[in-house]
Amino acid sequence: MIPKILIVDDEKDICDILVKILSTANYICDATTSLKEAKKLIKVNSYDVIISDLVFSEGSGMDLLTLKNDICQETMFVLITAYGSLKVALDSLTKGAFDYIPKPFKNTEVLMVVDKAIQTRNLIIEKKALRKAIAAQDQFGLIYKSHQMREIMGLARKVATSEVRTLLIEGETGVGKEVLAKAIHKFSSRADKPFVEINCATLPDTLLESELFGYEKGAFTGAVEMKQGLLEIAMGGTVLMDEIGEISPLLQAKLLRFVEDRTFFRVGGTKKITADVRLIASTNKNLDDEVKNQSFRSDLFYRLKVISFRIPPLRDRKDDILAISQYYLDYYNHLFHKKITKIKKEVKDIFTGYHWPGNVRELKNLVERIALLTDDDTITVKNIPLEMLSFFGINGPTGIETISKKIDTLESMEKKYIEKILKATDGNRSKTALLLGINRKTLWEKIKRYKITL
Ligand SMILES: Nc1ncnc2c1ncn2[C@@H]1O[C@H](COP(=O)(O)OP(=O)(O)OP(=O)(O)O)[C@@H](O)[C@H]1O
Ligand SMILES: [Mg+2]
Repeated sequence: MIPKILIVDDEKDICDILVKILSTANYICDATTSLKEAKKLIKVNSYDVIISDLVFSEGSGMDLLTLKNDICQETMFVLITAYGSLKVALDSLTKGAFDYIPKPFKNTEVLMVVDKAIQTRNLIIEKKALRKAIAAQDQFGLIYKSHQMREIMGLARKVATSEVRTLLIEGETGVGKEVLAKAIHKFSSRADKPFVEINCATLPDTLLESELFGYEKGAFTGAVEMKQGLLEIAMGGTVLMDEIGEISPLLQAKLLRFVEDRTFFRVGGTKKITADVRLIASTNKNLDDEVKNQSFRSDLFYRLKVISFRIPPLRDRKDDILAISQYYLDYYNHLFHKKITKIKKEVKDIFTGYHWPGNVRELKNLVERIALLTDDDTITVKNIPLEMLSFFGINGPTGIETISKKIDTLESMEKKYIEKILKATDGNRSKTALLLGINRKTLWEKIKRYKITL
């Protein structure tokens, strides 16, 4: 990324010279002759380096240094000092400036100091990022706060280090099935062995079979050489089979044998191969339904289901929504050199009240889009896409005042609706869940949350 530099000097000529020197060296520069303007600029932009003069009619360059120390520690500060003000220059170093350049300066001198400043800044940032990554890895690289995710992660930790070799992860699209599978792998003793994934929905059946089990030379036209399958390649590690619900009955039978005794044959092969691989199957379909309508073998289903995780949709984990937004806001601020530090209360209400059909993936993409397009330091309703506002029956940023009320109404509407259906089914929870299109556990949680008595 091209470094960004702020130049502050009350003499326009000096600003112009510095801009010229630095732009020629391919830096992006902002320049201002006003200290007040500079203070505004550093609040909304992320600069790699600030080069500032000392004496301004509105105050001192040292005030800018103090402000910088408060709001952007990683930005490097370089003071331009007039001849004879060595004491102030040294003083600035003790107060957090990176270096100083005495006037009159040579082009090379400026470039050398700026280059050194940027290198130092990069090192500091890398160190911080490393620390953050290590901290994040402690929690499997997943961000969560909700009790549902805490339970899931507790089980994941136990399972990861156990001998369990077959797992199922269920959940809507974008809830984090793949990241959970990777986390389980990373946390297991298999971590230094391969993690490979295969999406069962994107490959035709025959190709999927040969990808998974490999093939012998001459097994089919075009099989000019023996090829190992993913189960062999991942020996000792983990294979994630995404969208398991999509595989054909024939492949289900072959997979069942593998799940039962870890053996298989390459396509066209007669030699039994054994592979110690942890198989994680994932699906965003309801496999129970697939079993009921006989498109998925029940014996395979029960084998997979022995240890299973069902990640709830994001809308049912309201505690995670803001934690994940904040995490990705920090992430994209860093990536795009932005400084969006605040999220307005209305926006938080929208986030927690929205139904997130694309789950965490949708939230992550939205935060990325907002971070990219916003130049302010606060996320306001203006930054929210209209499609999302229309979920709350709002046609644009006007009428926002009512949003918090609308969200309350939405929850109370849900309560009333559940009560109505429960009444209509004479309190039969299975029928109610079926009619509402949710499972019994979710219904039970909602009954508890809304304190519904019937
Ligand atoms: N708890 C979380 N914390 C941080 N990021 C997350 C979390 N859960 C999911 N993500 C991010 O959301 C995106 C979608 O996650 P992932 O690919 O694991 O979803 P999935 O359930 O496998 O979706 P699909 O069914 O569409 O394959 C990824 O970019 C992932 O990094
Ligand atoms: Mg996935």
